[in-house]
Amino acid sequence: MNRSDPDGVLSDPFESNIDVSHKVTSKNEFSIRQADRDDVQMLESIEREAFQGTSTFVRIDRDLVRENAVYLAAVRDWLPEERELGRRYSISTQSQKAYDSLLARIKRNFYRNFLDKVTKPKLPGDYIAGFIGLWFVLDETHVVMIALRDKDRRKGIGEQLIISALEHAVARGARIVTLEVRQSNEPAIELYLKYGFHKVGLRRRYYDDGENAVIMTTPQIQSDDFQRQFTRLLEQHSYRWGWVPRPEFGAPKSDSNEVV
Ligand SMILES: CC(C)(COP(=O)(O)OP(=O)(O)OC[C@H]1O[C@@H](n2cnc3c(N)ncnc32)[C@H](O)[C@@H]1OP(=O)(O)O)[C@@H](O)C(=O)NCCC(=O)NCCS
Repeated sequence: MNRSDPDGVLSDPFESNIDVSHKVTSKNEFSIRQADRDDVQMLESIEREAFQGTSTFVRIDRDLVRENAVYLAAVRDWLPEERELGRRYSISTQSQKAYDSLLARIKRNFYRNFLDKVTKPKLPGDYIAGFIGLWFVLDETHVVMIALRDKDRRKGIGEQLIISALEHAVARGARIVTLEVRQSNEPAIELYLKYGFHKVGLRRRYYDDGENAVIMTTPQIQSDDFQRQFTRLLEQHSYRWGWVPRPEFGAPKSDSNEVV
């Protein structure tokens, strides 16, 4: 797997002429799956880490049971050293209010001082690095939130989540994908621009600290033009980061690609 891009060949995806169709594509350690109610504590802990106390208008626990919402999570197996976190990890991922309550503190001390020593700590099923939340409204898909843990950023996972969101939107017959983003959020804006979103307007003082939101939207995602560019970006992502399995969508089709 080639994780670097020393020659800068991937820096301009829409213009790049690199032929990725004959490269070996290894498998990434992460895969994408739909999040469910069991994941809510981990998703909320990622939200807290990513947005650090700023209001996001999103209720993940409610969205996870809404029919017109889908949350996709980037997951992997726990690493051996992370198994030590055990029960403590699941406790530390509870909602902030629950985490700070007196009862939670008593429970935490009880686990730390007693239960961890006599029982085998139990981790949630998967380690989750980040997630994207989507709402489907008529023929539009709206990205309500995307967030990565700090330590998992700049590894192509945010990009993979956008890829997966676009795949879901296309599969559900959406015409366009829309979102709002803080005007100062350069990493996120760069990510969206890379995937063909463009700025279409401004919601003034949209956030509770007074910052403006930029409204961004894709072109028609079912169009041949968009699909051609999207496929190219998808191939480049696989080539750079390894193929990321996602059950609803198959592996690359090229005969010469070897997906390990
Ligand atoms: C925005 C965010 C999801 C990006 O995720 P990520 O996994 O770090 O991004 P990736 O490694 O997949 O990068 C994909 C592209 O995003 C852009 N990007 C990501 N981080 C960037 C940064 N720090 N500066 C500039 N561009 C950046 C680049 O275009 C990058 O493509 P490249 O690698 O070819 O340069 C992540 O930074 C995050 O969780 N931020 C906090 C939460 C947030 O702001 N969410 C958006 C709310 S609308």
